Amino acid sequence: MTVSHHGARHVAIIMDGNGRWAKKRLLPRLAGHKAGVEAVRNIVRAAGDLGIEAMTLYAFSSENWKRPEEEVSDLMGLMKRFILSDLDEFAANDVKLKVIGNWRALAPDVVALIDNAIERTAGNKRTTLAVALNYGAQDELVRAATAAAAAGEITVEAIEANLDTADMPPLDLLIRTSGEVRLSNFLLWQSAYAELYFTDKLWPDFKPADLKAALDQFARRDRRYGGL
Ligand code: IPE
Ligand code: IPE
Ligand code: MG
Repeated sequence: MTVSHHGARHVAIIMDGNGRWAKKRLLPRLAGHKAGVEAVRNIVRAAGDLGIEAMTLYAFSSENWKRPEEEVSDLMGLMKRFILSDLDEFAANDVKLKVIGNWRALAPDVVALIDNAIERTAGNKRTTLAVALNYGAQDELVRAATAAAAAGEITVEAIEANLDTADMPPLDLLIRTSGEVRLSNFLLWQSAYAELYFTDKLWPDFKPADLKAALDQFARRDRRYGGL
């Protein structure tokens, strides 16, 4: 078991900048997304070694449907291929797959693939990899509040218990790559007291050493939660 010195149990990443990475190289956006998948692989491997219990990655937002049909279908294709090709690797690295967001509304073949991958990795323990797919925090909050209301009273605890991340440790660190300084409808509730870390690196250029640097900075932050 790896001992973590930074203390971050749950790290989330807004993986942004694939398109700009490709543009800089005069390549199609798809090439940027492919390079992005490679970065995901390396970061997921590193997460376990760095002692992170849970990692949530923003892969496709509920607003990304606004993109051209071809890009959306490229992204779904890459997602399917990633799950298929990395299932063995998840097993080898003891990674449990989780998906958050409105992913059951995706195409039936994608849903079936995900169901299978979740089932096959259910017994893994070292790291939980939560992929946010067709995810929007506002949508998540509406669903959570609706479920809370149906069960009785809308309280902070009841909403929390109905979030997609309910079974995960509290969010410690939220990273966004590519220089944009916004949350783009990601984990709005969970970010209430998360530490935020923004880097200009484009997602395909984000390496395990960059994750380590973010964790080192996190370790030096003073979290007060409104107290002293
Ligand atoms: C992030 O990269 C990947 C997804 C949103 C799926 P972008 O595709 O947003 O890349 P930029 O922001 O255009 O550079
Ligand atoms: C956020 O990036 C979504 C993902 C990384 C999946 P976007 O590129 O969609 O965000 P905006 O449009 O710049 O806010
Ligand atoms: Mg973007």
